[in-house]
Amino acid sequence: KEITWTPDTVQKGGFAHYMLKEIFEQPDAIHRAVHAVSEETLPSSLRQASSITVVACGSSYHAGMIFRYLIEPVCGIPVRLELGSEYKYTPVPFSDVIIGISQSGETADTLSAIRKGICNNVKTVAITNVLNSSITRSAHDTILMHAGPEISVAASKSFIAQVGVLMQIVNILSGGRCHDILDHARYALEQVLLTDLTEAVDLCSKAQHLFYVGRGVFYPVMMEGALKMKEISYIHAEAYAAGELKHGPFALLSPDTPVIAICTPGPAYEVMLGNMKEMKARGTPIVAFGNEDDGDVSDIADVVIPLPKAHMWTQVLTSTVLLQLLAYHTANRLGREIDMPRNLAKSVTVE
Ligand code: G6P
Repeated sequence: KEITWTPDTVQKGGFAHYMLKEIFEQPDAIHRAVHAVSEETLPSSLRQASSITVVACGSSYHAGMIFRYLIEPVCGIPVRLELGSEYKYTPVPFSDVIIGISQSGETADTLSAIRKGICNNVKTVAITNVLNSSITRSAHDTILMHAGPEISVAASKSFIAQVGVLMQIVNILSGGRCHDILDHARYALEQVLLTDLTEAVDLCSKAQHLFYVGRGVFYPVMMEGALKMKEISYIHAEAYAAGELKHGPFALLSPDTPVIAICTPGPAYEVMLGNMKEMKARGTPIVAFGNEDDGDVSDIADVVIPLPKAHMWTQVLTSTVLLQLLAYHTANRLGREIDMPRNLAKSVTVE
């Protein structure tokens, strides 16, 4: 019988790429991440914080942005968010604690931000995937996210794990108000892994430019989706808060620039429907993430990517996974080097 495996595919567990394997490991990764921190192990600096600064780069920055959208309404704790590379140009932090988020724990800009905080007598907490990494040796406290090893350059399961840890922090600080949602996270991710994205991939793989739009917490979700797309497919993908489209990008909309939009029940629902209609009027093809039985979304969109009905936090997780899969399958269709995209490194250790 013909041998159909190689040592390389065995390491990939039968998946064509490490990235796809890592995407499929996310139900377990979110479960471990949520349990990585508890009431007892939450650093006291976070428990007592009345204001927080988050510093990170790349995908980790998007995780921080999601955190800001989630914690402020639930706990009333203001969060200042900074890119690691910009932090050195900003004034000394006013917040009680700095969280540095870094999968590798080696990103130079995030490390220098943590050190700046320490020099200014601010408590620091690292959220990282790598035990004994540089950030763990610098920060006062560390939370390990337990995503497991991530080989593919583009972050997937480490991003979900970061969001899982950050959601758990909000849950603990709110006295357990979000416990049930997090309990459901592993199952929710399992549910979407096999979603058929063929039609969306057909549209995206022919495009040279893509816009990703969302509102509220789905704006950083879309930023992460667009980052995945450009990293591995090399298609120019730009994320916008949907309300900003009319302040410039509208000039670029045409039948050749598909828009990926997310429109789920919540405070932004009606206005997102309106935004999608405005885009449609310009002939723009729309791929919309919406609730599985939402007729209003499917009436407007050219392609619907159905999200199981769930709490907004859960849909943050499920839509993230589907955006990763959209980028993965588009890049695969285009024959790209998915695990090692050109010009990129897993960890950037220079400023
Ligand atoms: C690189 C990687 C990204 C990552 C970023 C921050 O650019 O390619 O995937 O998000 O660094 O890395 P960190 O290890 O600090 O999370």
